[in-house]
Amino acid sequence: MNTLEIIRRKRDGHELTTEEIRHLIRGYTDGTIPDYQMSAWAMAVYFRGMTERETADLTMALVDSGDRVDLSGIPGRKVDKHSTGGVGDTTTLVVAPLVAAVGVPVAKLSGRGLGHTGGTVDKLESFRGFSTELDTTEFIELVNRTGLAVMGQTARLTPADKQLYALRDVTATVDSIPLIASSIMSKKIAAGADAIVLDVKTGDGAFMKREEDAVRLAEAMVSIGKQVGRTTVAVVSDMSQPLGFAVGNALEVKEAMDTLKGAGPADLTELSLQIGARMLVLSGAFHDAQAAREALVRCMQDGSAFAKFREFIVAQSGDPGQLDDPSLLPKAKHEIPLIAESSGFVTEIRAEEVGLAAMRLGAGRMTKADVIDHAVGVVLHRKVGDPVKAGDTLATLHVNQTATLEEVKKRLKEAIVIGERRVEPPTLIRCIVTEDGIIRP
Ligand code: URA
Ligand code: CA
Repeated sequence: MNTLEIIRRKRDGHELTTEEIRHLIRGYTDGTIPDYQMSAWAMAVYFRGMTERETADLTMALVDSGDRVDLSGIPGRKVDKHSTGGVGDTTTLVVAPLVAAVGVPVAKLSGRGLGHTGGTVDKLESFRGFSTELDTTEFIELVNRTGLAVMGQTARLTPADKQLYALRDVTATVDSIPLIASSIMSKKIAAGADAIVLDVKTGDGAFMKREEDAVRLAEAMVSIGKQVGRTTVAVVSDMSQPLGFAVGNALEVKEAMDTLKGAGPADLTELSLQIGARMLVLSGAFHDAQAAREALVRCMQDGSAFAKFREFIVAQSGDPGQLDDPSLLPKAKHEIPLIAESSGFVTEIRAEEVGLAAMRLGAGRMTKADVIDHAVGVVLHRKVGDPVKAGDTLATLHVNQTATLEEVKKRLKEAIVIGERRVEPPTLIRCIVTEDGIIRP
């Protein structure tokens, strides 16, 4: 097959065949197609787009570039959950044990990743001794025994995605919907999912700032799932302000534990119930989302959701003492209040700036080599729409190194906007994209 001809065909707006797409991905990973040809193709895709069929073919070509996790040793349909990423997004820590508490197994691969705070694995490592270094056999045994396990991502999954993503990152071709959609879906499929619930974030702190773009990305991923036999549902949710109150690793773990006990922030609780209910329906355990939701609420109220979390942490060598007494989780040396200078209402909490503040305090990684400080971060005391009086504490900064403190305080103060008139809080659930269309709540 002629690579030059394939690039030219995409440049001119033609639809590529399955074999042409597979040729590109195979050639790129085995080194016979160089970066410059792959970048030209990615740029052609950026301008010309891909059909739904091409996008599904690209997804499966990425999956086939590496290993797949075989979850057939776990009975039933395995449903995975993925978030496109947000600030203070602790949903996985809530949803995974919650769904497992209802009796549906959750086998989760999770990464560390770069960002404002750590990934799910980093957050869980707030527990002393907690380990995600499992081999697949141990992973499956754990899921079958406790209903829930989290395994660290292995390097052998979707190597072509890793290589292509690094290339897109330096050639201004990241923000292409078919390329993003295939990248995300390939990782979920390689991780063994039979069905997938996506949380596609929109707003200031999200990858997709505009709601229309988030919906288009959601539709592209649902279409891939449908074509390759992995039913996918996407919840499009607000990320204009951080989710919940806590942004930071151990701080979010505490928030997740409260939520599992039914005493968490309203938005984190609602989003967890929405995503959890969709997972239960896709697993086949429930026919409708309302009944599924009621089962999840019962598990929060009767203590079984938190009990499942406890069982999971202990099974992966985490310290039970820290579960029983969360004050034993990593704790910062200083707790510094951010004081409101005027009275009125919170009209905006710019999620991205809050995330950057947490990162500057040491909660996240800018490069792979950075070390995360589990203790530090930001805890908000107000959300958009709340009243404020001058002198109130708007947020608490949990700080270990004070070198960056003044700058962080200044920027955080600018990120929390106080106005005279009350504004409506942003709608949390914008819509749910399914194979049968869009549901607006
Ligand atoms: N996240 C991914 O995993 N892939 C993309 O292409 C963009 C965001
Ligand atoms: Ca949070």
